[in-house]
Amino acid sequence: MHAAAEQDEKRRMQGKMAMILRNFIVFEGIDGAGTSTQIEMLMNSPHARKFFPTAEPTNGETGRFLRRMLGGEFRLDPRTAAYLFAADRCEHLWGTGGDDFNGGIERICAGGKIVVSDRYLFSSIAYQSVTCGGELAKMLQAPFPLPELLFFFKIAPEVSLSRIGGRGKREIYEEVEFLRKTEERYERAISEFEGTGMKIVTIDAAKTKEEVAAEIIGAISDAGMLER
Ligand code: TYD
Repeated sequence: MHAAAEQDEKRRMQGKMAMILRNFIVFEGIDGAGTSTQIEMLMNSPHARKFFPTAEPTNGETGRFLRRMLGGEFRLDPRTAAYLFAADRCEHLWGTGGDDFNGGIERICAGGKIVVSDRYLFSSIAYQSVTCGGELAKMLQAPFPLPELLFFFKIAPEVSLSRIGGRGKREIYEEVEFLRKTEERYERAISEFEGTGMKIVTIDAAKTKEEVAAEIIGAISDAGMLER
């Protein structure tokens, strides 16, 4: 067997190699890291028609229910929320959806568009590890494929929260101590995904949005995704 193939086989045996979904890109980071702004910028770039933007929690029923919980309308046991984030992801990947639902990632990727999601399973691993422990948070992600490319927006919670500051009402997770723990979980989780075959790009999210946008398009191009 070829040395690289042997290495892959070994990783697969160790459970390290995961299923990678071609044409799928994910943006992750704590609240206020700027992922939504960057997706908007990508959709205003000359490459826009190649991309299909989406987000979690989704606009589907489960996602909307989760947003009401995030807005503080009612409380859920943190484990219930963890299951619901995973259920929302399941629809996002595989659902056929209704009119205003942007789900069916796998289908859209197979059709040749590059799906760019604002948050995915790494949000669950980071946030739900803080609210209900790492074991459940990780276990619930086992069925889901990894993206081809992951952008992790690294930023200090003080800086990210100062950006959110002007936006009005805060969601339940938008608090400095909570986000500090979440940022730690993100960093730990992302290092654990090294060697899975997914390409990870860490972005210094304190840079200007123009600098970040240039880095992002550069990395997507380097990954050979624009020429497909
Ligand atoms: P966010 O992208 O910040 O939405 P908006 O900018 O519209 O407020 O996401 C909402 C929150 O949901 C954010 O605090 C992170 C949290 N979240 C989880 O805790 N687990 C998850 O699996 C996902 C997808 C999001």
